[in-house]
Amino acid sequence: MEREIEIGLIEELLRLREAKSHYLDDEIEFNSVDQYKSEAIFQRERDQMFARLPAVAAHVSELTNPGDFVKREIAGRSILVTRDAHGEVYAFLNICRHRGTQLVDDESGCKHRFSCPYHAWSYANMGELVSVPHMATGFPDLDKAQYSLKSLQCEERFGFIWGIATPDITFDFDAYYSPIAAEAEGLDLANMDIAHEEKKVHNSNWKILVEGGIESYHSKVAHRKTIGPYFEDNLSSYQMLGDHMRSVLMRSSMHVLRDQPTDQWRLRDHANIIYTFFPTTQLLVQKDHVVWINSRPVSAGQTELRLATLAPKSRLAEEAYWEKNHQITSTTLNEDFVIGESIQSGFASGANDVITFGRFEGALPEFNRTIMRHTAA
Ligand code: FES
Ligand SMILES: [Fe+2]
Repeated sequence: MEREIEIGLIEELLRLREAKSHYLDDEIEFNSVDQYKSEAIFQRERDQMFARLPAVAAHVSELTNPGDFVKREIAGRSILVTRDAHGEVYAFLNICRHRGTQLVDDESGCKHRFSCPYHAWSYANMGELVSVPHMATGFPDLDKAQYSLKSLQCEERFGFIWGIATPDITFDFDAYYSPIAAEAEGLDLANMDIAHEEKKVHNSNWKILVEGGIESYHSKVAHRKTIGPYFEDNLSSYQMLGDHMRSVLMRSSMHVLRDQPTDQWRLRDHANIIYTFFPTTQLLVQKDHVVWINSRPVSAGQTELRLATLAPKSRLAEEAYWEKNHQITSTTLNEDFVIGESIQSGFASGANDVITFGRFEGALPEFNRTIMRHTAA
């Protein structure tokens, strides 16, 4: 993060704290409950956003060696991500081009060739069809070059491997992420490794889970038994970076900076910084590590979350330390996720047609406006 921005963000929060105020938008806003419970709206989000925008398939540490692969699901499609002998990464639809069997069953591994479990057509990890049993008799004129695995746009950036689940899309990845790229690079995630992780399906719409991380109105209440005491009450700011967002949640410790020269100010020591890479990847930046929150929307009412603590490779051996940190984060975030399920199950009651966002919850309508822009067309 640029120094000037970092100091500006700290000064803004200190000023608000001194004024006993909040980070306020102009007005109260609303969102229809349908946005969270309608399967038709979810399908539109899937077709127009999840299938067409980049999603993180893996952290680079999951594909370090030539031949490494992972199988992932993006926008309801099974995706195979590979690294070839030259270190290039590729993404494909995990579908055999013969009669459509899912080619790879394993979640991850190291292989240079993939053989279909049905009739053993086999493919190189760069996608080409390399052999067809009994080809000369059964498929005498088959042009193997036309039967490569369906290739997907795949980019290795900011320590992650990103894929777009629809073939034949050319997406300007760098333009889309340029407003957030320098800060994402600055996190040095490529030199980190997954110290701990967990995966769970939550009975909640994906947007509710994102929204829980980008306001601090709830911090002292919902997290009173965990991190609540370490944070200022309802004091956080947010900035849109293109479609993406930086949220800064102020720790109570930040006020000590008033007595220190600004050249010693370091935001991540006194705040949780949350980057939302639109739409489904969030990074929670803490003092000495980053928590990667990857959501995989399954249906209007279900979302699988992968929660991974990324630690610097040089300190990966401090296992007990990372485990403890992961547990604190997991316990805290699960307080949000349980509430997310409570909200989702309450939608059916008809108590609310809309949900209401206060002026200090302005990040949430902003996030929802970004969704509307992508799904309106
Ligand atoms: S479906 Fe894959 S080889 Fe037949
Ligand atoms: Fe929370």
